[in-house]
Amino acid sequence: VKIVTQTSVLQKTLRSLRRKGRTIGFVPTMGCLHEGHLSLVRRARRENDIVVVSIFVNPLQFGPREDLKTYPRQLPKDIRLLRGSCDIVFAPSRTSFYPEDFSTFVEVRGLSDRLCGHSRPGHFRGVATVVAKLFCAASPDRAYFGQKDAQQVAVIQKMCRDLGFPLDLKVCPIVREKDGLAMSSRNLYLTPSERRDAVVLFQALKSGQHLAAQGQRDAARIVRTLEDFIRRTRTAKIDYIAIVDPLSFEPVKTIARQALLLLAVFIGKTRLIDNAVLKVT
Ligand code: PAF
Repeated sequence: VKIVTQTSVLQKTLRSLRRKGRTIGFVPTMGCLHEGHLSLVRRARRENDIVVVSIFVNPLQFGPREDLKTYPRQLPKDIRLLRGSCDIVFAPSRTSFYPEDFSTFVEVRGLSDRLCGHSRPGHFRGVATVVAKLFCAASPDRAYFGQKDAQQVAVIQKMCRDLGFPLDLKVCPIVREKDGLAMSSRNLYLTPSERRDAVVLFQALKSGQHLAAQGQRDAARIVRTLEDFIRRTRTAKIDYIAIVDPLSFEPVKTIARQALLLLAVFIGKTRLIDNAVLKVT
């Protein structure tokens, strides 16, 4: 794996590869890689000649009271994990990526203010800005994101449409632990008993899917049932439960055929998100 820390070096290296006709697959990450990230990297490997993974804990997407300082960092281990499946790791320093006079931001209005954007003001502006900057650095043919961060995917899709980034965005399935907990770097924050409790998110999604499959179309009823279910777990505190249109992320009242069930739940101090498609049959 080649490690690159300067944007200009990455651009020069990739330009020469592109000139030779090589296609570039890009997986942006904040490091602390787990099987979810590695599944994106493997798919990028299958679909492209060159695979670039960025590892950068993006300060812009953390709120003032969030976990930027404690976010797990393990660059040497991440590089070992990527050996064999990735060609270039792009790991810029904070100061080289955002020099002191940095003052340009990307804001996807509307979509960024709801749900996670409501609970985490400025989060999606930080995500859109860093992803736009990373896309400019890597100019990939394809970029890979996980469906776990469903709203992030929607924000980035909209940004790509609005700004005309010439790339193919690939959304990959959620990778889960054996008990169903969606993989996330933040799972590391959970104590052993919180880790056991965290399965409540997956159980709630399953229960929502079951209700919809049984013909329950009333979104508010499903949400109420899931609220009652999650509240039975002592360490769980609901941030939001929402049923939205999969494309617009607008809340739906009645599930027509398909909708997206989104959960954000604190387990102790750790905020976890997860989602699943609801299908009414
Ligand atoms: O999903 C993530 O890990 C981050 O939000 C991303 C896309 C790498 C931007 O920092």
